[in-house]
Amino acid sequence: MYLQGKNLLLNKLSSLDCKNTDKIEELIDKRYSFLLRESSERFLVPLFESRDFKAEFCDFSGDTVVIGRPEEVNNENRERLYNSLKSLMPWRKGPFSVFGIEIDAEWRSFRKWNRFKPHLPDLKGKVICDIGCNNGYYMFKTAYHKPDFVLGIDPTVQYYSQFSLLNSMAGITNLNFQLLGVEHIHLFEGIFDVVFLMGILYHHPNPIDILKKVKSSLKKDGYIVVESQGIEGDLPIALFPEKRYAKVPGTYFVPTPSCLVNFLKRAGFKDVKLICYHKMSSEEQRSTDWMVYQSYKDFVNEENTLTVEGYPAPIRIYAIAKK
Ligand SMILES: C[S@@+](CC[C@H](N)C(=O)[O-])C[C@H]1O[C@@H](n2cnc3c(N)ncnc32)[C@H](O)[C@@H]1O
Repeated sequence: MYLQGKNLLLNKLSSLDCKNTDKIEELIDKRYSFLLRESSERFLVPLFESRDFKAEFCDFSGDTVVIGRPEEVNNENRERLYNSLKSLMPWRKGPFSVFGIEIDAEWRSFRKWNRFKPHLPDLKGKVICDIGCNNGYYMFKTAYHKPDFVLGIDPTVQYYSQFSLLNSMAGITNLNFQLLGVEHIHLFEGIFDVVFLMGILYHHPNPIDILKKVKSSLKKDGYIVVESQGIEGDLPIALFPEKRYAKVPGTYFVPTPSCLVNFLKRAGFKDVKLICYHKMSSEEQRSTDWMVYQSYKDFVNEENTLTVEGYPAPIRIYAIAKK
């Protein structure tokens, strides 16, 4: 499956005259070793055990990504699939409905999508990348708009497995997941019409470098769609936590809305548009039966004004800009 995906991507890149196809192939081959680690086995077994499920019906138009109707499988097979899906927990992004099995993920990801939706460029026929695509929730949402090709990159084997199981049932051939990271995005020089960079920027110590790399992966006049954790405030400043922010160790610059706009401008983007920002809440991110660990309410005080470390509680910021 992984190698089949690799060949599809390499063919697409050759057709787009990608300069670095060989380097990308080499990287993908190296990342294949992630799947061979002993720790990956538990994520690959469910994929193998449920490879026979094929959905006749899919619907990506609504808040829930629907793959297969309940009547397409009998109860015994549904239970088998349920066990496979459960063994791939935790599910962070969603919701999904899979042959009638409702995956209530930690994040109500449609909220993010719906905030961007009226502002997105036309996605039809476009070559798109979703950086840090997790289980592919937004790749399926994008597929509804009939893109030419959607590459999702995320180095996490668990999410690769969740996506691969979902798409082995959905059978959407122009969705492609690779175990690559944002640090590789510049290799796709001039390839994408649209790049989604959501929930990524504050996890990197050099956000401007990341934005410049994303810019180089865009075609002329291509779009970056950015969503970031942030803090409230009118000044263009970023919080830089000593160790953790909202319990997350890998958090670096947490910008105000105008700071994120300046990040984009200083990285060389034009037509920078701040779409909106909102206070983060447990309505959006919470523990469920499919993600049983701590979630947003455990990361902030009761009033949702401060993180557990005493920093200002997070907001989420949305912006779109052009190369
Ligand atoms: C906060 S989540 C955001 C997921 C999704 N983009 C969203 O907005 O809902 C961060 C994601 O980045 C992935 N990730 C971790 N390291 C990465 C890297 N070096 N490059 C790209 N993605 C990475 C994680 O596996 C995770 O799926």
